[in-house]
Amino acid sequence: MNIRIAPSLLAADFAKLDREIAAVEAAGADMLHLDLMDGHFVPNLTFGPPVVRRLAAHAHIPLDAHLMVTDADVWLPPLATAGVARVAVHVEACTHLHRTLAVIRELGMSAGVALNPATPASFLEEALEWTDFVLVMSVNPGFGGQAFIPEMINKVARIRAMTQDPTTDISVDGGVGPDTVPALVAAGATTLVAGSTIFGEPDRRAAVDRLRSLAAQGANA
Ligand code: DX5
Ligand code: ZN
Repeated sequence: MNIRIAPSLLAADFAKLDREIAAVEAAGADMLHLDLMDGHFVPNLTFGPPVVRRLAAHAHIPLDAHLMVTDADVWLPPLATAGVARVAVHVEACTHLHRTLAVIRELGMSAGVALNPATPASFLEEALEWTDFVLVMSVNPGFGGQAFIPEMINKVARIRAMTQDPTTDISVDGGVGPDTVPALVAAGATTLVAGSTIFGEPDRRAAVDRLRSLAAQGANA
């Protein structure tokens, strides 16, 4: 399984997002992870569909939206219009998760389920049938640059064991860096979301290459 690297724009310089996108694309990033926060589901605010639409005009790789919002349904049509390829919604925020995942697919996007660190993997049991990818949060969402929660490696392994379809993507988000990548990939992670590990390095290509070679180590473990 090819491991995908998805830089999280949350750690980029918001005053020059077009150049930040170009830099990680040139570095070989596979997707661009966009963190939408509403100040309710998480204690932070970022950006919404109008900004995503403008960013899409500068991006050549798929846009991966992570909705940290209480009312995900409202944002799905404008994100589809903006050109987003994948959307992850939090199981903790979606009362009618089956419907929300169906709407994401009807809008032509891949449907993802995000789980907070304390949310049991078993919450996926029914939903996996309607899910294209899982987003395992390895920090409590809301902020970049937090410390990775080590128990999430075992959670990734348990989710991988649950997936019937081996092509189901398991993304991991939060505190992902050189120390954690080999174990995450060995456990079954297939997409690595990384904010500060990539944008915190002046040489984005070196940062992406390093994660990729550590991921290859984990895949061969
Ligand atoms: C946290 C976000 C993450 C964050 C990751 O709420 O979902 O995508 O940007 O940043 P790092 O890699 O710095 O932990
Ligand atoms: Zn995220």
